Amino acid sequence: MAFSINPNVDRVLEPPTNETRGWVARREYNCELPIIDAAQAVPSYPPADALQAHLAEAVQMADTAFYTPILGIADLREELAESLSAQYGAAVSAEGVAITCGGNHAYCMAMMALAGPGDEIILPEPFYFNHQMWFDLQSIGTRLLPCRETADGVVPDLDELRAMITERTRAVVLVTPNNPTGTVYTPDYICELYTLARERGIALVLDETYKDFLPGGEPPHGLFLDPDWGDTFVFLYSFSKVYSLTGYRVGALVGGGRFIDAIAKIADTLTICAPHVSQKAALFGLRNLAGWTEEKRDQLNRRLGLLRRAFETIDPAFKLVSSGAFFGYLRHPFEGMKSLDVSRNLFRDQSVLTWPGSFFGPNQEQYVRLAFANAGDAEIDELVRRLSAMTP
Ligand SMILES: Cc1ncc(COP(=O)(O)O)c(C=O)c1O
Repeated sequence: MAFSINPNVDRVLEPPTNETRGWVARREYNCELPIIDAAQAVPSYPPADALQAHLAEAVQMADTAFYTPILGIADLREELAESLSAQYGAAVSAEGVAITCGGNHAYCMAMMALAGPGDEIILPEPFYFNHQMWFDLQSIGTRLLPCRETADGVVPDLDELRAMITERTRAVVLVTPNNPTGTVYTPDYICELYTLARERGIALVLDETYKDFLPGGEPPHGLFLDPDWGDTFVFLYSFSKVYSLTGYRVGALVGGGRFIDAIAKIADTLTICAPHVSQKAALFGLRNLAGWTEEKRDQLNRRLGLLRRAFETIDPAFKLVSSGAFFGYLRHPFEGMKSLDVSRNLFRDQSVLTWPGSFFGPNQEQYVRLAFANAGDAEIDELVRRLSAMTP
């Protein structure tokens, strides 16, 4: 008799990335047109030359082959704390920093520290699908908080959130800048959310994976300025996108003392430490790549401007309801059609690879996500023109 698979795993979504990769592998597209890949959010460029050279040196060094301390190389924790202190205008200490095997690992460990089977966490919908998949794996209840289309993007209503919190609620999660919508939440909005979480004794977990692509020098929020932030706030981060290191698996989380002690137990059990070579890469990036990072940020924001302008001038039947960082969120014009079919048709007829709204929640059939950051500047107009060729 064959063994059985944990039913929690059985009921988790199939990894969505496999679906669209399958369309490419099976060549389900219009071969006349070159593919514009706006599906998975991956930087469209390699790491900086200097970083690649540094990595080549790092693998030759004997210490790189060995474990680091559980919470990461001390210099890296220090350097990230300094960088956050500068960006957020607050004193973030290295003791509050844990280095992880990427942003997803940071998220999973944070949730493990906050909630167990039967507890609930509030997730705004649309959500980043791995966030929800982890709850199913862990028997943590997901409470979906609907987001509304507003002039400021796709935003969860705080009164609805207030009404959803119960004695089982352990945390509310927000991704800012958002995946999948691109919405950048204002410091005031984040402060209100924080105040609510604090009043109700739950954690506010902000996934700020895309923070380095925000235009302008304003701090994304002021939460680190509250001396008691560690009682309420957990910050998640990834080095994947900022240094184009998605394959190296390195990220971080920042929290208060009690929280970091809990994370150390989980991290030791799961991975012992993040990959040493990847930590060296992150440290090199923080110390040496500020100029390169700004250049990439400016390039992305120029591309965002091109995308918004293309939607205004070409005016396709698809509506850009929100955009920012790597993403545009589109309301499609095909009333009643499944978003998976819309995405599939876009690929089949126009060779444009998108992800359907259904990847991001059960009530997202009206939408598709565009990871426009993957496309080159020259492709943006072409991308929107191809969208405009699709009419109901
Ligand atoms: C919001 C968000 N968090 C985390 C991640 C994963 O980051 P990492 O590659 O560091 O695990 C992604 C990747 O797309 C993301 O969009």
